[in-house]
Order: sequence, then structure tokens, then C-alpha cells
Amino acid sequence: MSAIQLRTSIPGPQSRALAARREQAVPRGLSHATPIYVARAQDAWIEDVDGNRFLDFAGGIGCLNSGHRNQHVVAELEAQLQKFLHTCSQVTPYENYIRLAERLNQITPGKFPKKTLLVNTGAEAVENAVKIARAHTGRSGIIAFEDAFHGRTMMTLALTSKTHPYKAGFAPFPSDVYRIPYGYCYRCSYSLKYPECDVYCARHLEDTFKRVVASEDVAAVIAEPVLGEGGFVNPPPEFFRIIMEICHRHGVLFIADEVQSGFGRTGKMFASEHYGIEPDLIVSAKSLGGGLPLGAVTGRAEIMDAPGPGGLGGTFAGNPLSCAAANAVIDEFEKGDLLRRAEVIGQRFQSRAGKWKQRFELIGDVRGLGAMRALELVKSGETREPAAEETKKITQYCYEHGLITITAGSYGNVIRILVPLVITDEQLDEGLDVLEAAFASVSEKDVALVGTGNR
Ligand SMILES: Cc1ncc(COP(=O)(O)O)c(C=O)c1O
Repeated sequence: MSAIQLRTSIPGPQSRALAARREQAVPRGLSHATPIYVARAQDAWIEDVDGNRFLDFAGGIGCLNSGHRNQHVVAELEAQLQKFLHTCSQVTPYENYIRLAERLNQITPGKFPKKTLLVNTGAEAVENAVKIARAHTGRSGIIAFEDAFHGRTMMTLALTSKTHPYKAGFAPFPSDVYRIPYGYCYRCSYSLKYPECDVYCARHLEDTFKRVVASEDVAAVIAEPVLGEGGFVNPPPEFFRIIMEICHRHGVLFIADEVQSGFGRTGKMFASEHYGIEPDLIVSAKSLGGGLPLGAVTGRAEIMDAPGPGGLGGTFAGNPLSCAAANAVIDEFEKGDLLRRAEVIGQRFQSRAGKWKQRFELIGDVRGLGAMRALELVKSGETREPAAEETKKITQYCYEHGLITITAGSYGNVIRILVPLVITDEQLDEGLDVLEAAFASVSEKDVALVGTGNR
């Protein structure tokens, strides 16, 4: 039976009524990718208030690697509901916070002693990683990358790259943030070609310390091992090893923001593992909480201990429900085959998308790691001019045919796949069929149709 079931025209009457209420009650700054309102969700599908069922390739922007309402997560939440909801870990602590910290210290890359701080969101975790790095090094500078996204709070906006809609109109941002090019081979900032370039973009950090900011003024370099909002770009394999070597030669810390790339998305627990690196600090959130708000900073014990007592924390930070959910998520990864599923989903996507690339000129690049995959759309393979309008049309077509997808990229021309890893092969294929039909409907040049008289 088809996973997608559209019973009304969409958005249906109930969703339309809620949209009217939303317009009155909620600021327009909070945009939304689809106009349907959720009634319930399970595994990899979402049902709206009009009874329409959609396949979910967005997973709440990468928060549901273990699936909507994962059975074990729900059971552990129900058990926690019977005990207590909130006491504040800074007033009367509780065991499941400690257990989660111990487990994060274990599963993050690096065998050295580690400690973990829990907070509420990805942005809050990034903010705390910066505080900790500054406290440890006694330096203030932070180097971030072009096309980076680290959140919407003021410090994380300073680190975020994309101007519209994130930064424009919200300045001034905290100072002492510097930006360097990422290893984005499809749009190399130096117009070089890998591997002949010898990963110049990474080696260039040494130059940055001479020409932009002195290394002794820099606390940390922060990077996403795979760009999230920036378009699911995975740099060459040596990129982060070179960056980390240069950092450590200068006493600069390396922070991996694994908010979107972590928790099994790429077929490993953390994307850093693909590059063979052990970051000084790792930031996680999103799928860590299995659908509940939770963020974490995990890092070398001596670095994490730099801020004094009372220097870190937050009223709801690491609340017991989120901790119960996150411990259940880790159980699921330990006992299940979610990491293998991420690999299989990635391969299945890649083999189909590779064929689409031959067929549709609109597809400029197909990339990613594990189940963190994306398609970059261009008006012409020659000029690589970003095809943002066409990207919107594709996601609109998908939505109208029961598939929820979201975009990414500094030019808004990337379609990213963040499907829950519990999706079945049949559901995945059904979703990919819709995506393929979307390309066929929007593409100017469909090689499969040329000369058939179909258009
Ligand atoms: C890499 C990365 N860092 C930080 C954040 C911010 O997380 P949050 O929205 O939970 O504050 C995001 C959110 O998309 C992200 O993708």
C-alpha cells in the first residue's frame, strides 16, 4: 500500500483554518516550508489535520534520525513522566543527566578523558562551546567558514555565513569572528580543482594567521564536518586533518558542530569519524533528543573544566525528559542497525540520483555522506548558475504529491534529504519516485524525453 495518501486537496480545510489563525497570532518572521498542520506522525510519515498522509524527507530538519515517536523513546518518556518533570540540574541533579553525559563521552570520537555539558538547543550548545574555548585559551577570536550555519542567537549569527534571511537587519553581532572558505569543491572559492589543489583551502589557514588574525588571539576554529544549511557539502577527506594540524600547532582549539551531521546521519555516529579526526569539542543537538529539545557540548575534560562553578548552565538545560529521550536514542543506535540503514539509504539515493544527473541538466551536483545527501540545482552545467526558482518548484511539486522536502544552500538551490533512518525501502523508493517526477515536470532538458515527442 502506498505510504502517501492524499484525501483532500492540500492544504485541506482544517489546515487552511489554522493558517488563518496563525497569520493573526504568529509573526511572519517564523516561516514554514509547507502549509499543512500536523495531527500525528510515526516513523517516516506525517498525517495532517485533514487526514492526508505525507512521507517525511525532512525529519523536523534532521531531528528524527531514530524516527517519529520511536517506540523505545516514547516508552522511556512515559516512564520519566511518572517520576518528575523538572527540578533544574543546578538545584537538585538527577541520574539520567549523568548517564547521558557518560555515554556521550564514550561515543564521541577520541579515547581521551571527556566531559559533557547539556543545554536546550543547537545554538545554545554552540554558544557554550565558544565560552568554554575562550575560558580555556584566554583568547577571544573565533574562525568560522563561508556557508556555515551555527544558529540564530546573536553569537551564532555572527558565526553563521548566509546573510538573507538569517543575518540581514539584525546587526551588530558579537565581534572577533573571522571567516575563511570551506572545502566546497563544486564552488571552490579559489577556482581550483581537487586533488591537484592539494587542499589549498585548508592549508590557507596558516596564511589567515599571518594576514587576518594572529593565532595567539584565536581561541578556536569552528566547522560543520558536513555543511547543513550551507548545502550538505562534504569537503575532501584530508580537509579537517589539515585544519586540525594547523590549529594545534598554534594552540587553537577545533570545535566540530555536529548538530545536523551527528547522531548517525552520515552512517557513523559522528561525521568527524569519516575524516579520522578527534575534535577538541563536539557540539550535538537535533537527533540527539529523538524529537525533544536538547543540545550538548562534549570535549576534552581539561578544556570543559575551564569555566568555573556557575559559569555554565541554564534553567531547563538538560531537562530530565530530554535526557530520558536521548538515552533511549543511544540505546536504539547500540542495539539496532540504524547506522547500517543510513549507509543503505545513502547508497539507494546516490544510485538513483546519479542517473537523474545524466538525465536532467538541472542537477549540477549529487553529494553527501551516508543518509545526509543533497542535490545542487543549476541553470546550466556550464555556468553553474544557481537554480533557486526551480528548486522551489521541485519542493512545491513534491509537497503537492505527498512528499515533504526542504531546501538548503547559500543560494537556496539545494534539495537535502533528512529522512528518518527507520524508513522502509519501499517508502524510500516511493519518495524518490515523487522526487524524480518533480524533476521531470520542472526540467527544461530531460534527456530521456528528447526526441520522443512527449513535450
Ligand atoms: C550545524 C548547525 N548548528 C547549529 C544549529 C542551530 O540549532 P538550533 O536550531 O537547535 O538552535 C543548526 C540548526 O539547523 C545546525 O544545522
